[in-house]
Amino acid sequence: MAILEASNIYFDYGDKPLLSGADLKINPGEHCALVGINGSGKSTMLQLLIGERRPDKGTITWEPHVTYTYLDQHLTVNMDLKAEEYFYGVYSHLFKKEKEMERLYEEASSGEEGYEKLLARAERLGNELLEADFYALQAKVGNVVDGLGFRKEDLEKPLRLLSPGMREKAFLSKMLLEEKDVLIMDEPTNFLDPTQVSYLAQYLKSYPKAFLLISHDEGFLKEVCDVVFYLRAGKITRYKGTFEHYLAQKEIDLAQAEKDYLAQQRYIKKEEAFIAAHIVRATSARAAKSRRARLEHLERLDAPSKEGGEVSFRFPFSKDTGRNVLTVENLEIGYNSPLLSPISLEIPSGSKVALLGHNGVGKTTFLKTILSQIPALSGSFMFHVNADILYFEQQANINMSLSPFDYLRDLYPDYDNTKIRSILASVGIKKETAMRKFSELSGGEIAKTKLAPLTQEKSNLLLLDEPTNHLDQKAKDALFEAIEAYPGTVILVCHEKDFSDGLIDFEITFS
Ligand SMILES: Nc1ncnc2c1ncn2[C@@H]1O[C@H](COP(=O)(O)OP(=O)(O)OP(=O)(O)O)[C@@H](O)[C@H]1O
Ligand SMILES: [Mg+2]
Repeated sequence: MAILEASNIYFDYGDKPLLSGADLKINPGEHCALVGINGSGKSTMLQLLIGERRPDKGTITWEPHVTYTYLDQHLTVNMDLKAEEYFYGVYSHLFKKEKEMERLYEEASSGEEGYEKLLARAERLGNELLEADFYALQAKVGNVVDGLGFRKEDLEKPLRLLSPGMREKAFLSKMLLEEKDVLIMDEPTNFLDPTQVSYLAQYLKSYPKAFLLISHDEGFLKEVCDVVFYLRAGKITRYKGTFEHYLAQKEIDLAQAEKDYLAQQRYIKKEEAFIAAHIVRATSARAAKSRRARLEHLERLDAPSKEGGEVSFRFPFSKDTGRNVLTVENLEIGYNSPLLSPISLEIPSGSKVALLGHNGVGKTTFLKTILSQIPALSGSFMFHVNADILYFEQQANINMSLSPFDYLRDLYPDYDNTKIRSILASVGIKKETAMRKFSELSGGEIAKTKLAPLTQEKSNLLLLDEPTNHLDQKAKDALFEAIEAYPGTVILVCHEKDFSDGLIDFEITFS
């Protein structure tokens, strides 16, 4: 029996239909991915499954007693807890048991009457703790938090003092430790560096229970899933098998759908021609009428339209800079104390450079330091005098009550409405999305809007901090092409090896 079954789900946000007859079924132990282009309704579907939203039509049935956790940005967590306390909180029932066991032993040792009973109870608790692997907890917690890149000092910090990325990872760690029957995760790799992505992939691969996750990272999906749900035009198709199987089968299915559609169109045309020719003839009017009735009842196939609009980025180039566009000497970065040993490097003009290093090592801090958003602790950096720098910020402070349209209008007050709309259209933001508030947009739609200014201003040095987060494959391909074609220098922070590998000339690793 399925542990979760959603059938014939209809949902819209008040404008065009988003889900129209979607089905999704998870069996025990299945490792599932939900995929589809940006804005297709994946996050919405998860919110429906966990009851955060209600479908307009359709049913969602969880098998009784099945437990699940949902990785959500808006968790209500006591932020004053230390990370370590938060993790061990998962096992608070076991710690309670341990305390009770110790109390019973102590009481029994006083030798009072009935001590045998007390001992027996204590032993029973002891066995239960053994069964729950209580004595291996430290190793278990250690394994997960090491795997996801927590250092000792992070564990001792209250959650509210962790960087946003680390905090996300704290939520993820706790979720893994809880080992519920179904893990539900919306883009869990966005805050992870490549080693942590592989750790998570390994962990999930051997996870004994079920999960359902959304991700646009195909390398990761190839590793972890054995069922793929493909959400397209409001409906979900289930592919049992590896991600590669899904990719191949999807193409076959789409080609078949196209063929079926064209065949039906030909049939309809032929029938209509017959009806038109015969309906007024006394001899064949009956046949024509019956064919017309049949045609009226025919279930018409939808045209298998191309998915989403086209997406393209082009980063206009200003002018050449000299030999090195950036020279850094003994630069110490950090807030109070240096995060890293002094950095010295030279970036030759026109090169594509990847900045590597585990989360929290200081990649974003480095970028913000050379942009003078954060003061350097010591040392120096110098850009070429002709450097025209543009920065794609990972955690940009966007006013969430604005729309993509407002956002660009504020940046470019001289542009007329048509121009703003056409810029948004070219980065894949459709008309109706352009006027909606950021708070109501999908992750991919926000990311695409944030990339739009880079296509408007001339530059010769791009600093890109995790630009692929949230982008679907089509948008990532478009971004890849734009960076490849850009004659200027690019400094790229990106956790997706598939993306950066084919693009970069050299790597700089912070450690
Ligand atoms: N509260 C809302 N009000 C109106 N429209 C919304 C709201 N939330 C989401 N939408 C729209 O519904 C569509 C689906 O959003 P959803 O977040 O489910 O997409 P998604 O498939 O998860 O996309 P992504 O891959 O970019 O994360 C998007 O076009 C989005 O703009
Ligand atoms: Mg989403």
